[in-house]
Amino acid sequence: MRIRRKKGTKEKIVLHDDLLVLEPEQMLGKWHEFFGNDYPIYLEVGTGFGQFIRGQAKKNPKINYIALEKIEEVLIKTIMTTKEEGITNLRFLWFNANQLELIFAENELDKIYLNFSDPWPKNKTAKRRLTHSNFLNKYQEILKPRAKVEFKTDNQLLFEFSLNEFSKEGWKMENICLDVGNRGPEDNIQTEYETKFSGLGMPIYRLEAINPK
Ligand SMILES: C[S@@+](CC[C@H](N)C(=O)[O-])C[C@H]1O[C@@H](n2cnc3c(N)ncnc32)[C@H](O)[C@@H]1O
Repeated sequence: MRIRRKKGTKEKIVLHDDLLVLEPEQMLGKWHEFFGNDYPIYLEVGTGFGQFIRGQAKKNPKINYIALEKIEEVLIKTIMTTKEEGITNLRFLWFNANQLELIFAENELDKIYLNFSDPWPKNKTAKRRLTHSNFLNKYQEILKPRAKVEFKTDNQLLFEFSLNEFSKEGWKMENICLDVGNRGPEDNIQTEYETKFSGLGMPIYRLEAINPK
């Protein structure tokens, strides 16, 4: 997404340390302790304005949610909305997903959501796609055995690439859907990109991939 960078956001965002975890590396292996319960922990990578994960958190109070976003101008708005909505089981990380292994220990997570991840269409930037095998190998480590990655996108080429990457790395897939709007899960919660693109009549693709560990 195209974002206008604003001077001073870095200084402002760190003031929201009630919802923003400022030193996530310190939490490695301690996320349950941090949440103070044994509920499952679900992570969304690239949350954007967080419409999806806020919807999930409101619906499922017995799940701990973590939403990760690298752009502070986006994240600060998401945090403010979360506060306005009084959501208590969702925390945020201002962090780049390419270092996930620094903040989550082996088997620490119960699910990962990837929603409308940037497609990086050029071959030379394929390694930045969040479903590139390098990322899948990180997810495999930090997810529990048989836990799932749930992925949605409007981008057919990224979806095809992702099917191949999951398959190549030994992940079984299920509930593959080429038209979430008409044939997706009944309890589907839309992301902000999904609302926009499905409103334009575009098909939304979805899959669930099972950790081969
Ligand atoms: C296309 S937007 C989609 C936002 C939202 N998930 C949705 O579906 O509406 C992708 C978001 O992922 C974030 N993102 C992309 N790569 C990331 C990475 N490596 N680490 C953290 N955030 C990332 C971007 O900054 C952007 O906000």
